[in-house]
Amino acid sequence: MAITRTLVTLAVALIAGMACTGPDGARGPAGPEGAAGPAGPAGTSCTVADSGAGSRTITCDDGTTAVIADGADGAAGADGAAGADGAAGADGAAGAAGADGASCVGVDNGDGSFTITCGTDPAFTVTDPSYVPAGYTAADGIKGGIAYSQWWVTQGDGDGTLTDAAVTVGSEFVRCKTCHGWDGLGNHGAYANRTGMSTGAASRPDVSGVDLRATVASTSAQELFDLIQGTGGRDLNTAGNRHPDYSTALTEGQIWNIVKFMREEWIYPEELYRLAVDGPPVYTAADGTVVSPTLVYYAIGANGDATRGTTVYTTACAGCHGTDGTTIALGGDSVGELVRKKPNEAWFKVKFGQISGTSTVAMEPALVSDTDDLADLYKALANSMTYPDLP
Ligand code: HEC
Ligand code: HEC
Repeated sequence: MAITRTLVTLAVALIAGMACTGPDGARGPAGPEGAAGPAGPAGTSCTVADSGAGSRTITCDDGTTAVIADGADGAAGADGAAGADGAAGADGAAGAAGADGASCVGVDNGDGSFTITCGTDPAFTVTDPSYVPAGYTAADGIKGGIAYSQWWVTQGDGDGTLTDAAVTVGSEFVRCKTCHGWDGLGNHGAYANRTGMSTGAASRPDVSGVDLRATVASTSAQELFDLIQGTGGRDLNTAGNRHPDYSTALTEGQIWNIVKFMREEWIYPEELYRLAVDGPPVYTAADGTVVSPTLVYYAIGANGDATRGTTVYTTACAGCHGTDGTTIALGGDSVGELVRKKPNEAWFKVKFGQISGTSTVAMEPALVSDTDDLADLYKALANSMTYPDLP
């Protein structure tokens, strides 16, 4: 009875157990190592035996045999002979071609200058120092000298009238010579005793303090042209002096003529005479007085030859002025007298003529142009015994 009940209970328990799912069981321990494998086949084993006569015999299990000679020690090697010089190496390969330079474009400006533009660099200008402007080549220096004195006269290639409104400087201060002097030295030369507006003692412009001869020596023909043309004119100083605007008064041809005169036909004072000046003009503002320095000309014609000068005079001058130069009264002076009083001016008249403002030629230009001939003439005319003053 008791057993039965137990079996029933067990059966119930079993039935109950079969009907449920439990958790996974823990993993079991690793099994034992397997037994060692069988031994591999034996390797081939060789023995070495001395076979005499410097050889050994090698015999191996697999039946192979070999006899090898013992090696003797080698004798020490002899030093090697010095090596011959090596042959020169072959030329290196030519370098690779350079990269292209920047390419430049030059434009001829037609005035001796060229504008060069390279790539994207800023353009620049180069000037040919040997360039001579066509206007200069075609110019006439004698006409230029006439124009320097009176640019409007026809002999100086002017139109004969002095009407240009652009030239508005007082009285006759439109003539180059009036400010710059016959010698081009202005206040540094024969006009050392002249004053103008800046002294308050005169209504006329100041005489130029600029040394045009130095300017000529330091400028190109083109630069001198540009300075003279001076479009718009220039204020010269605070006293209201103005450099005339010659851009409309003078033609380009006239300016070139003046440039050529300045460079080629203007005679330096030292060639014909010397000038001593005892200081600058002294202006006293309080009473408005100006005390001018004394000008003394000396060594007139010192470089010349009086005999040759007399021949020049007789040939070129005596016909009008008489054998001793007194036939024509030149503002109260004889020819000799004028040369002695105003040697800065007389040669200019002889070389460029005495042109009146009404375009009539009293004395032709270029009667004597050569500097040596003029020095000879001056030497002769310096003698007041042969060429006396007017009575
Ligand atoms: C009213 C007086 C005056 C007259 C007329 C005058 N000049 Fe001048 N000139 C001057 C003065 C002053 C200067 C210096 C200042 C200047 O350069 O503007 C000068 C400067 C110049 C220069 C430049 C010099 C330099 O080194 O910069 C030239 C060239 C020149 N004159 C030429 C002439 C010619 C040619 C004429 C006639 C066609 C003339 N001048 C008429 C007063 C005058
Ligand atoms: C064809 C005639 C003639 C001949 C040749 C001549 N002259 Fe004159 N000369 C005159 C006349 C006329 C005047 C005056 C013009 C005037 O009054 O403006 C004059 C003026 C001058 C003047 C002064 C200019 C002035 O500023 O007032 C000088 C200097 C002069 N002659 C020197 C000479 C010399 C030197 C020679 C020789 C190389 C010479 N002359 C040849 C006719 C001549």
